[in-house]
Amino acid sequence: MADTKKLFIKTYGCQMNVYDSERMAEALGGAGYVETGRPEDADMILLNTCHIREKAAEKVYSELGRYKGLKAANPDLRIGVAGCVAQAEGEEIMRRQPLVDLVVGPQAYHRLPEMEARARAGHKALDTDFPQEDKFEHLTSRPKAARGPTAFLTVQEGCDKFCAFCVVPYTRGAEVSRPVDRILTEARDLVERGVREITLLGQNVNAYHGAGPGGETSLAGLIWALNDIDGLDRIRFTTSHPNDMSDDLIAAHGDCDKLMPYLHLPVQSGSDRILKRMNRAHTRDSYLALIERLRAARPDILISGDFIVGFPEETDADFADTLDLIERVGYGQAFSFKYSPRPGTPAAERPQVAPDVADARLQELQALITRQQRARQDAMVGQTVGVLFEKPGRLPGQMVGKSDHLHAVHVDDCAARPGDLCRVRIVSSGPNSLAGVLA
Ligand code: SAH
Ligand code: SF4
Ligand code: F3S
Repeated sequence: MADTKKLFIKTYGCQMNVYDSERMAEALGGAGYVETGRPEDADMILLNTCHIREKAAEKVYSELGRYKGLKAANPDLRIGVAGCVAQAEGEEIMRRQPLVDLVVGPQAYHRLPEMEARARAGHKALDTDFPQEDKFEHLTSRPKAARGPTAFLTVQEGCDKFCAFCVVPYTRGAEVSRPVDRILTEARDLVERGVREITLLGQNVNAYHGAGPGGETSLAGLIWALNDIDGLDRIRFTTSHPNDMSDDLIAAHGDCDKLMPYLHLPVQSGSDRILKRMNRAHTRDSYLALIERLRAARPDILISGDFIVGFPEETDADFADTLDLIERVGYGQAFSFKYSPRPGTPAAERPQVAPDVADARLQELQALITRQQRARQDAMVGQTVGVLFEKPGRLPGQMVGKSDHLHAVHVDDCAARPGDLCRVRIVSSGPNSLAGVLA
């Protein structure tokens, strides 16, 4: 190849950023870039950033600072910032960090090759528009290279919910659903390249309402269409909002064999007072009722959640309600965060909870969740479950993969290969994974 340049991408934040980084690498592949794992070798460094909490955004500036030496050693190095920090503070980044040549927001990734050319020519390039054209239409010409057995596929992007703490509606823009046929084409292509499990992504994935052959299609409709793809074994989706958990989607958890028995359904708080202040537009009882309906449809479904502690004005009683909700639901997995005030969001202006109080609550909540997760995992011992093997483990002859319930599973002296979906009898449960034998 005449002009091969090296691209180093570092990805922060959520799964959608992982998906986006792959699309950006492909887009720049067309401009002669191949990926490298070493920033020292790169002609272009791209940070794909997250703005969800203060710490996540600060990491970007400290990482950029570390590239000063590289840029001094290689004046042809170009440095770009993509993702949600780029969208939220693009101009500030350019001002604060002169090393940065290029800033691109999530809705402008299809313009990256032109921006790269401008940056290469010595100009600064900034694009944080929300353009009218569909970026996915320009981002899906993909090389047919083989890939691992699991993949993400963005089907919906953006959010119209405006939870009072959250930056996502500002960084990702309004909710948009991709058309069904485009998603099916991309999914078939992934399967041809070796993918067995697809996780459908969206900030509010269950609000999906894409154009389909029979008119507007729900997420359940899309899942049923994907269910017909030969060679695709497993379907997952994330992240859902309780208010968009429609009847057909709940039913699909009972009826659709490729849809895995796992649901990430964040609730954030168990206190109605706080839920209201968060603008969540649901109550603790409506959430608990939803969990009951899901379990009626699929008794073994594993529920995962997100929690924020120390939201403005959260009292001990509010926090006790959250612990109580967690006890009632019994989470198989959960992520919890100390509230982080985000610029431009309504909650940032309200009376804040003292940091030591929030810290103590976070510890207490995490201890409870860890106990629940461990109990749910331990209960798998003795059961035979489906495991999709992904890669060799740390020990020779060992293979690791994920169970239907998304537990990490390892099997010693294992004849399976990456991409094999096998029945595995679980024999023991460790701190972070299950051990099993092929059944
Ligand atoms: N609907 C999106 C939300 C992404 S943010 C999705 O669910 O994928 C992921 C989680 O980060 C949220 O569920 C919430 O628990 C947490 N979070 C969002 N904003 C936050 C903030 N300002 N401080 C602390 N945690 C926050
Ligand atoms: Fe953020 Fe709420 Fe939208 Fe999720 S639903 S992305 S938490 S505003
Ligand atoms: Fe972070 Fe943006 Fe995802 S703020 S969580 S990278 S949508």
